Amino acid sequence: MNRGDLLHRGKVKSVWLTDDPGFCIAEFSDTITAGDGAKRDELAGKGALLNSISSIIFERLAEKGVDSHFVRKLSDTEMLVRRAELFALEVVVRNRSAGSLCRRLGLEPNMEIKPPLVEFFYKNDELGDPLLTKDHIRMLNLAEESQVADMERQALAVNQALQQIFGAAGLDLVDFKLEFGLADGKVLLIDEISPDTCRLWVKGTTEGLDKDRFRQDSGDVLAGYREVLRRLEEGA
Ligand code: TMP
Ligand code: ASP
Repeated sequence: MNRGDLLHRGKVKSVWLTDDPGFCIAEFSDTITAGDGAKRDELAGKGALLNSISSIIFERLAEKGVDSHFVRKLSDTEMLVRRAELFALEVVVRNRSAGSLCRRLGLEPNMEIKPPLVEFFYKNDELGDPLLTKDHIRMLNLAEESQVADMERQALAVNQALQQIFGAAGLDLVDFKLEFGLADGKVLLIDEISPDTCRLWVKGTTEGLDKDRFRQDSGDVLAGYREVLRRLEEGA
């Protein structure tokens, strides 16, 4: 599959057209950002690590019947994906309290959340990705009501499958962020699933192997990501 024009350059990933209008190439860079881009660094090898992790996760999700844009890994830093029109939404699922939920609601971290919480955020760096109610989503015309319900249903199915996948690797899935797009009129899981977008704690502890190390300057980020990959490959 030949790489064509650049379709979109994000803070961390780029998306390229291909000679087939139904497919794109997603390329992971070595950039890491936090706080909507306020904090930024380059970590050599990070793109390849996240491409490997995300590819494994999407493959295992497919085995469990969870569909996504992922087609196959193309190279160290690239994956072939189905083309979709992005919704300007970030869908967060939480199994334990952490991060912005604790700050917003004054909660202690590491409280079990049952049933899991699904939250929608506006994908808008200038506004700092604010939390949205379903009425806000309707008012801003970001998605139709049935599409929002579909995202919520899919996000919970992804959560169940991811808990099994990470659980088998000795990791607790605290929370994660998903993105969805529209492909052939259907709501499709897109983007990536990786320690950049999930909180992953070593089972039964609060030791995080994810991007919180970068957000909080609390440890070797790449070592954490390498450990996630090692555990996923071992648990295969
Ligand atoms: P939060 O606690 O900061 O709202 O984050 C919840 C989860 O979503 C956490 O696993 C990190 C992930 N996330 C992203 O991947 N991108 C983002 O822009 C944000 C705000 C969170
Ligand atoms: N604000 C997000 C985070 O802290 C993502 C980013 O800025 O790239 O995870």
